Amino acid sequence: MNPLITREEIAPLFSRHLQVPGIYLANHSLGRPLDAMQDEVNRFLDAWYAEMDGAWGVWLDMLREYQELVGELLGLTDGNLVALKTSAGQGLRAVLNALPQDGSLRPVRVVATRGEFDSVDFILKSYVEKGRAEVVWLEATEVDGVPEYEAQKLLEQCRTHTPDLLVCSSVHFATGRVMQGLDHVMEECRALGIVTLIDTYHSFGVLPSPWPRQADFAIGGSYKYVHGGPGACWLAMSEHGANLGLRTLDTGWFAKRDLFGYARSESAELSTDGRAWWESTPPVIVVAQALAGLRLLKSLTIERLRETSLHQQAELRETFGKHGLSFATPVEISHQGAFSILPAGNAHHVVEQLASHGVKVDARSGFVRFGPHPLNTSEEFEVVAQILSKIPITPRSSGD
Ligand SMILES: Cc1ncc(COP(=O)(O)O)c(C=O)c1O
Repeated sequence: MNPLITREEIAPLFSRHLQVPGIYLANHSLGRPLDAMQDEVNRFLDAWYAEMDGAWGVWLDMLREYQELVGELLGLTDGNLVALKTSAGQGLRAVLNALPQDGSLRPVRVVATRGEFDSVDFILKSYVEKGRAEVVWLEATEVDGVPEYEAQKLLEQCRTHTPDLLVCSSVHFATGRVMQGLDHVMEECRALGIVTLIDTYHSFGVLPSPWPRQADFAIGGSYKYVHGGPGACWLAMSEHGANLGLRTLDTGWFAKRDLFGYARSESAELSTDGRAWWESTPPVIVVAQALAGLRLLKSLTIERLRETSLHQQAELRETFGKHGLSFATPVEISHQGAFSILPAGNAHHVVEQLASHGVKVDARSGFVRFGPHPLNTSEEFEVVAQILSKIPITPRSSGD
């Protein structure tokens, strides 16, 4: 078998999407919809039409398969360590609402980087404004014109402030840079009694090891690399995280110890496994939406996907280079996630210009993001480079 995934190999699985004209290079944003997603959504609906509440048999199977598949991609041995959430932010709030660990009412102390995604950033700032959290932010260090976050500095913040919670992305959303040295930070945090939460949104379905083993919690979802669209997200935990004895206020009957017993004891008896992190009646349809993509990733394997992504990014660099365009490349290419970044002070203008030529990309923090997918071709890279070489690009400044 070709170690690289080719367009020919997977194009039949995306026949509906491929009818749409244009060049799609925003695969790091909304992932492409598989034909089979429709079948899974139909299976969810057909069960309901045919069996009314008997559909729960099919629906619970869907939920279990979702947990298993997400768990496998995260390297977990037990799907029960995955709790369905409808956003990554919901997963973060569940953990915030379980802290401080001692159950006191003081604000939750958090260390986080300035490079966290908008939802995470906004939720943390909202907690601060309500007096529910105090956040120490790690500022970026500019490395060759790219904001990066240094593990050593993160660790220093943790040692100095001993927060209740550390929040950090494994791959930063604006730059695609893989956070280096997180394993060590997690080990130290564990020794210091700091709970750790990793945002894996840009490493899940991208890297064979999307989060450090020593971390307690991970948040992520299916919107991007897993082809599952909005809403199919999760909060996952390591065995260590599950056994911390945390209890969140974000709860509901799906977190009860005796799920279908409907017993009403005086105290809220919580499930003893990862189900303790579920909430009320789960939105099963988002799982139906996500299953086909998760199955595809399992069959293609993350190893082949990663190799294909690195190969395509190298090809993009070479093609763009021939037209005088250079990406901000990391010291080692393995330090880059699934998209490459082109620095541009006028990044949003560049995105608009490309869109007017039928090329879909996006921009964050003064970088135009190009996320190739095995469905993209070398010819497409050449066309994009030619269009781009005619668009004036202004230099990016560190304030962007
Ligand atoms: C790093 C990262 N985290 C989280 C999210 C999504 O967060 P939420 O599901 O809370 O909107 C994204 C979406 O782009 C992201 O890039």
